[in-house]
Amino acid sequence: MRYFIQSFLLVFLLSQTSTVKAGEGMWLPIFLKALNEQEMQHMGMKISAEDIYSVNKSSLKDAIVHFGGFCTGEIISDQGLILTNHHCGYSNIQSHSTIENNLLKDGYWSQSFDEELPNPGLFVTFIESIEDVTKKALLGTNDQMSAVERQSTIDKNLENIRAGYRLAEFHEIIIRPFYNGNQYFLFHTVKYNDVRLVGTPPESIGKFGADTDNWVFPRHTGDFSLFRVYAGPNNEPAAYSPDNKPFTPKHSLPISLDGVEEGDFTMVFGFPGRTNQYLPSPAVEQIINTLNPAKIEIRDKALKILDKRMRAEPEVRLKYASKFARVANYWKKWIGESQGLKSSNALKKKYTLEKEYAQNAPKDFKNIVQEFKTLYGEIEPYALARDFYSETTSRNIEILRQIRNIQRLVTTYEENGEEEYKALVERYIPYFENFYKDYEPELDQEVFAALTAFYVESLDKEFIPEELTREFLFMRALRDFNGLAKYMYSNSTFPTEEKFIAVLGKEPAEAVELIKKDPLYTLYTSWNGLYTKAISAPYNHYKTQIDSLQRLYMKGQMLTFKDKRFWPDANSTMRVTYGKVNGYNPRDAVRYLPFSYVEGIMEKYVPGDYEFDVPKKLVKLIETKNYGQYADETGSVPVCFIGTNHTTGGNSGSPAIDAYGNLIGLNFDRVWEGTMSDINYDSSICRNIMVDARYVLFLVDKLGGATRLIDEMKLVRPKTGLRSKK
Ligand code: ARG
Ligand code: ASP
Repeated sequence: MRYFIQSFLLVFLLSQTSTVKAGEGMWLPIFLKALNEQEMQHMGMKISAEDIYSVNKSSLKDAIVHFGGFCTGEIISDQGLILTNHHCGYSNIQSHSTIENNLLKDGYWSQSFDEELPNPGLFVTFIESIEDVTKKALLGTNDQMSAVERQSTIDKNLENIRAGYRLAEFHEIIIRPFYNGNQYFLFHTVKYNDVRLVGTPPESIGKFGADTDNWVFPRHTGDFSLFRVYAGPNNEPAAYSPDNKPFTPKHSLPISLDGVEEGDFTMVFGFPGRTNQYLPSPAVEQIINTLNPAKIEIRDKALKILDKRMRAEPEVRLKYASKFARVANYWKKWIGESQGLKSSNALKKKYTLEKEYAQNAPKDFKNIVQEFKTLYGEIEPYALARDFYSETTSRNIEILRQIRNIQRLVTTYEENGEEEYKALVERYIPYFENFYKDYEPELDQEVFAALTAFYVESLDKEFIPEELTREFLFMRALRDFNGLAKYMYSNSTFPTEEKFIAVLGKEPAEAVELIKKDPLYTLYTSWNGLYTKAISAPYNHYKTQIDSLQRLYMKGQMLTFKDKRFWPDANSTMRVTYGKVNGYNPRDAVRYLPFSYVEGIMEKYVPGDYEFDVPKKLVKLIETKNYGQYADETGSVPVCFIGTNHTTGGNSGSPAIDAYGNLIGLNFDRVWEGTMSDINYDSSICRNIMVDARYVLFLVDKLGGATRLIDEMKLVRPKTGLRSKK
């Protein structure tokens, strides 16, 4: 009887593939048992939902951390060793690097605990438990309330929920809305602030293929780095101290030397940032036709300027490597996303779904898509101007981003007086010094000229601050935006470290006076003021309505498509996604196999190249096939592999886990044809890219010689059953 019910359920679940496709979804760990366990086991998983997430015993979740709040990491030894991506550890690796002692370029393998390098500001967060608090959070709300009324009721409820917890230091309660605000979940978290750099391959390996290969398969990137969590007395979280000891975790992931093959079950466990799977068609139209093209073009202009200087000057390249990668990453992603949305017919699919929805939705929910059309039409000019503003002032022109902090100095002086101002200056000075360390004013000036010109040329008059108008240029006898940029950067003290630090060294009243007269300061404050009035106020007005409507639309879809399993859009909370190792057809008559191998590195290898060089030592290891225990049955070492796991930004560094709960790799990217998966997951072409654990181990051992780290790990062979030989 039990068997019958189970197989009936299974058939039922599997018959849902038309609505939730194999691989789609980023699931909440607490619902795996109810929603996913059967399907996962049917796909080959040998462990249970309880082994993945449990509050009563140690489980896989105890080995997963939110790394710095933007990536994922996992514990791979009982001494708190953490594995994450090279690009997740990048800015920390960079901050330990100088031209003479260049950890980015040469890699780094600490030889003892003493050589593990502290990283002020870096933290990792564990999840102790997750709770559904929907009922308490939504108490006293209804669909008739205004958005403001509803939100303030919810805020009060959340405050009450939080008040019910007495928290130890470093423990925190996080409550987040799910399903566009239809449900709420609470996460009990513990944060560790002493996280040290243990090892990293050279950047030429950790970022092999750089921006050319980014978002692309076949891939040969060894995108990993190693850190370690340290704890205070009793294994509790503590601020950095040389006396802290390596942390003893509740669980650490064993690492499989057997790997996986095509068709095998895989699971990715981590902290995906944001997805928008349930948007209506007018929103997707706006992304494809208006917002993505604008953002792409803005970044295109900035990147060209950076690239030119970085190629010519090694020092600029070192300073700007991380910034360039950050800007280029989403620039490229948006290009892929727009292409993918078109080629996967995302809009047509939305139209079909919306038609079906309109026919079957309950009466009160029927006209939602129509209302969306109006609202998205109304918000469009503001949404576009908002993207222009933020891309220009806070993503690409570096000095304007700094002025936000400078502005805080001024308001602190004016509102709280001299003493607090002085204290803030003290706090900001190291921060500013850090900024100038990697800053090239002439380069930024060029970006300023290009982007302000583009802003003015692209947007309506109502969005343009006085300082960027023709009249302003005319009054100061400036011919164009190059002239404006030159005027701004030579008359402002901000672009030059000595000048600005000298201003901060003056008496508060005088310093604030000088800051307020600074031409870049007046430009920024006037632009920001205009933004608040003319862009963000109307934007927020429509966005609040869109958000409320999206909540109803989500609810409407759940009421209408009753037998569909809905997963909540990603929101930087802990999720599990699962699928299979699987190749795909990127285009007609072409099939990509799911694995790449070290020989492929040699095919791409270009000595001396900015993206495709690798250390001689690696070339030698490959030429002599010095693979040790890390080769697979083909006699070579797999580098990367792909699967149907549904991942997004934030999943970088997430462990790829096999059917038995062992680590088989490290998630770091997605394939080009599937970058639209945040909006329209399509299991036929959406693939995540993982570095194979055996390539990671091979590099740690054979390239880095860091056998002390290998000795700490637990290497297993779940398939061949052989004990790992060390
Ligand atoms: N595309 C990957 C992600 O979104 C990797 C980015 C880092 N690599 C780079 N070349 N920018 O994070
Ligand atoms: N590379 C991404 C990250 O850093 C992962 C992705 O977007 O697929 O999280």
